[in-house]
Amino acid sequence: MRHTVDFLVIGSGIAGLSFALKVAPYGKVCILTKADASEGSTKYAQGGIAAVMYDSDSFSKHIEDTLVAGDGICDKEVVEMVISGAPERIRELVNYGVNFDKDGSKFDLHREGGHSEFRILHHKDNTGEEVERGLLEAVRNHPNIELKENQFAVDLITQHHLGQTVTKRTPDIECYGVYVLNGDTHQVDTYLAKVTLLATGGVGNVYTTTTNPITATGDGVAMVHRARGVIRDMEFAQFHPTVLYNPAEKPAFLITEAMRGAGAILKDMNGNEFMQKYDSRLSLAPRDIVARAIDKELKMAGASHLYLDARGIGKKELINGFPTIYAKCLEIGLNITKEMIPIRPAAHYQCGGIAVDKKGESSIHNLFAAGECSATGLHGGNRLASNSLLEAVVYAHNSAMEAIERAKTVSICQQVPDWNSEGMVFNEEMVLITQTRKELQEIMSNYVGIVRSDLRLQRAFNRLNLIFRETDDLYNRSVVTEELTELRNLIACSYLITKQAMARRENRGLHYSIDLL
Ligand code: FAD
Ligand code: SIN
Repeated sequence: MRHTVDFLVIGSGIAGLSFALKVAPYGKVCILTKADASEGSTKYAQGGIAAVMYDSDSFSKHIEDTLVAGDGICDKEVVEMVISGAPERIRELVNYGVNFDKDGSKFDLHREGGHSEFRILHHKDNTGEEVERGLLEAVRNHPNIELKENQFAVDLITQHHLGQTVTKRTPDIECYGVYVLNGDTHQVDTYLAKVTLLATGGVGNVYTTTTNPITATGDGVAMVHRARGVIRDMEFAQFHPTVLYNPAEKPAFLITEAMRGAGAILKDMNGNEFMQKYDSRLSLAPRDIVARAIDKELKMAGASHLYLDARGIGKKELINGFPTIYAKCLEIGLNITKEMIPIRPAAHYQCGGIAVDKKGESSIHNLFAAGECSATGLHGGNRLASNSLLEAVVYAHNSAMEAIERAKTVSICQQVPDWNSEGMVFNEEMVLITQTRKELQEIMSNYVGIVRSDLRLQRAFNRLNLIFRETDDLYNRSVVTEELTELRNLIACSYLITKQAMARRENRGLHYSIDLL
């Protein structure tokens, strides 16, 4: 089927929903999402959203904290723009119906690693669920927005589909829309749009252990890469220092940094503090430093996990302030008011992604990107905690402002052909996909994880090449499916992470190699 809209949005997390609400008064909006509408990383966010709301804090302090965490390679203008834009975007979220906890008439503010002040707005320890609820409700009430679930974006449509040769050097690549696998009909539909926004989230599933939901397979990044757009900063894969050590559980359950902000302390297997060996900010050092310290302690002790001791926070504050974590731990027989929490790091966030300018536009015309799939320059080498939800709303706003103007001048490209699946066969061997996905995750976890080396990266690169060839071959003769396309996307993102890691010849932020010491 062919569909025509003014604004096409791929993804229904904080970035996609915020953008849709902003452009909706100016045209017909269609949001496509590959799972249930609420599924995505946004729903799982715990800690909250960083913003300077009162005079006790200042933009300059938040800017400085972001620059320090980013290890000297943030885009300063972007940092200033995002942080000074935060209060306005927070007020909009509240107007859409999102509730943040209050202490009297003021927002109750938490603190997390790398922040010099208490500035994290939150809703208990389930902020993301509340943000997603509020935004989805507003979207569903808007007459100009159509939200379609189980619609899997497969590929961007560009001049390539009109028979023209498109390479990385083609100066004016344009996006005309997206080919989408319809989960109900199993046919590939053609969506044509004046403006397209990718808001497809992260890529945590390239690793074995991740906090990310199963939807985080880097689809947007891989689509732009295939369409010859620019992808940057992929070497900066962020590992969260503290997820609950509960090996069988997928995704890994996060223990928010806000708990360390409230006084919880990292301890080794013997119950001793160890962060004094690594950083004067102790358990509240930026994430890259804490994750590396834990990785080192784990390797030295040959241990599977360390501990987070939250007992000092006090029973009442723990139960009221962190009800989700308290209940989750009780579920596995752990009373965190009396026992230490077993923790380890897990893949959490991709700082890199689709390169965008300050207006959110990618290197491909009329294609915008916002949220975790984009790379704006805000995070530099390492994202500061709770700056991700903030970046998503600021760039959804910037993209929307530009998209509204753009839609006035762009016309729909009607010459685009429909998807051709002639001669394709059904792949009946799921093991070809499931086993390759496991192999890929093992390669990335063992060779391109928290600590890297030249040899590990080269090994990963060689093995990824083989997996890429086998999977591409399978893809080229198979009827398109979500599982196979996701695998293809995971391979493309793994390749980009590894290649960009090999190219960075310095230890910077999240990229750390023993050969660059
Ligand atoms: P998502 O919310 O991940 O949404 C992506 C959407 O795209 C989904 O709807 C998905 O189904 C859809 N999609 C993907 N591919 C396709 C496709 N091919 N076709 C159609 N649809 C597709 N950040 C903070 O700032 N503060 C926090 O406290 C915080 N806590 C976190 C806790 C956890 C456990 C996790 C995992 C992340 C946390 N983060 C936090 C990071 C933050 O939540 C994410 O970066 C942010 O929510 C990403 O929003 P998004 O809109 O870009 O993507
Ligand atoms: C957390 O709550 O620790 C996660 C915050 C983030 O990822 O920004």
